[in-house]
Amino acid sequence: MLQQLTTKYDLRLPRYTSYPTAPHFSKAVDSTVYGGWLAGLAPEAEVSLYLHIAYCAELCWFCGCHTKITRRYAPVEDYLAAVLAEVDLVAERLPGRMTARHVHFGGGSPTILHGEDFSRVITHLRERFALAPDAEIAVELDPRTADEAYVAAMAAAGVTRTSIGVQDFNDTVQRAINRIQPLERIEQVVLWLRRHGITEINMDLVYGLPYQTTASVVEMIDLAVGLRPRRISLFGYAHVPWMKKHQRLIPEAVLPNIQERWDQYEQATRRLDAHGYVTVGLDHFAAPDDTLALALREGRLHRNFQGYTTDGAGVLLGFGASGIGALPQGYVANELDITAYKRTIRDGHLATRRGIPVSADDRLRRDIIERLMCDLAVDLAVIAGRHAVDVSIFQPELASLAGLEQDGIIVRDGSRITVTDAGRPLVRAVCAVFDRYLKRGEARHSKAV
Ligand SMILES: C[S@@+](CC[C@H](N)C(=O)[O-])C[C@H]1O[C@@H](n2cnc3c(N)ncnc32)[C@H](O)[C@@H]1O
Ligand code: SF4
Repeated sequence: MLQQLTTKYDLRLPRYTSYPTAPHFSKAVDSTVYGGWLAGLAPEAEVSLYLHIAYCAELCWFCGCHTKITRRYAPVEDYLAAVLAEVDLVAERLPGRMTARHVHFGGGSPTILHGEDFSRVITHLRERFALAPDAEIAVELDPRTADEAYVAAMAAAGVTRTSIGVQDFNDTVQRAINRIQPLERIEQVVLWLRRHGITEINMDLVYGLPYQTTASVVEMIDLAVGLRPRRISLFGYAHVPWMKKHQRLIPEAVLPNIQERWDQYEQATRRLDAHGYVTVGLDHFAAPDDTLALALREGRLHRNFQGYTTDGAGVLLGFGASGIGALPQGYVANELDITAYKRTIRDGHLATRRGIPVSADDRLRRDIIERLMCDLAVDLAVIAGRHAVDVSIFQPELASLAGLEQDGIIVRDGSRITVTDAGRPLVRAVCAVFDRYLKRGEARHSKAV
């Protein structure tokens, strides 16, 4: 029955890492607008920092990230200089030296940086921002490029958390996505991380990849759990060859179909549950005593561009090509093109290219969507009260939810909507009901499951 529903709701839906979502950003928000927003921040507000390192040494054919492949270090060095200059440009516009409690290095592959360069970035950030003593500094780590010296440099610079890009341990799958990294390599990296005191270890796993079967995905889960990560992200492979041309290197015939994807997801989540991991939102799993599981229990879970997070800061500053920021006034996105990004920053300008101011209605709907994505439940009356609007404005949405209720995806108790366990993979379809911007067919997204 639910397998049929996954087919019925095979809508191309946003991942709701923001609301309004990125396809609705426009050129109306440029560097001048962003500069004004930065200057208008409350000096005592806490900020989170996201640095996008848009380079990798080799192309993984399944990759959906914003990155560029380079065999030489010079372009990376050049890019890093631009990112540091951008940090200065932003910091100069802020109302003071603001406190940061979360720093995230994403990409691309931050581990493409030389160890001493990584340390230099952290030193630079510490000059421009007051990094809280208990700040979380998280780095996305490609196990093929991180050696022990690099791990030591990260530890010395204060890194507290890493997400290891595992994808899958299976040979055949690794070959089909051009991402060869034997299990021994991953074990070695985990050992180095623990040896140097970086014990908050996450792993990125993917289902729906070429040649994966339900059995092989369950085996992948067992192998990952054997390395005792604190968190696991289990992403559904987003096959978007119209956007990422290199994904054409993966023949569609060897991709699991929607039914198989559903089965892989379901069995993988069951297995993680059996191993004692707490399911967080849609695709994250955490050890019961991990801060993410704690935040979930206490209703403090948040969702941002990196997925689920404990980070509740009201300001996210994004740096680097494609870097996205979230401010109380609205969202901003940087230039995508790496060469244009470098040039703009070198010329002394902020690289903002698009964005959207958030209205009172956007904030209201964002709260609803965030609670649904995080807690799989929302009380419309509570959120309406918080935003000083009458809950009756949601009559059209409640009417639209009737179909989802009939299909067993949600249950309703007055103004409270709860996504059922079975409906969890379709939570994006529930969020979409509250999305004012979504017109079917307007933007193509990856499969909801
Ligand atoms: C920026 S990468 C992580 C760091 C590093 N580049 C690496 O691959 O190890 C972020 C994660 O996104 C996930 N990812 C990349 N492309 C994807 C796609 N097309 N569909 C689903 N997940 C994807 C992978 O799990 C990957 O580890
Ligand atoms: S998956 Fe990671 S390492 Fe592979 S190309 Fe994408 S960003 Fe680079």
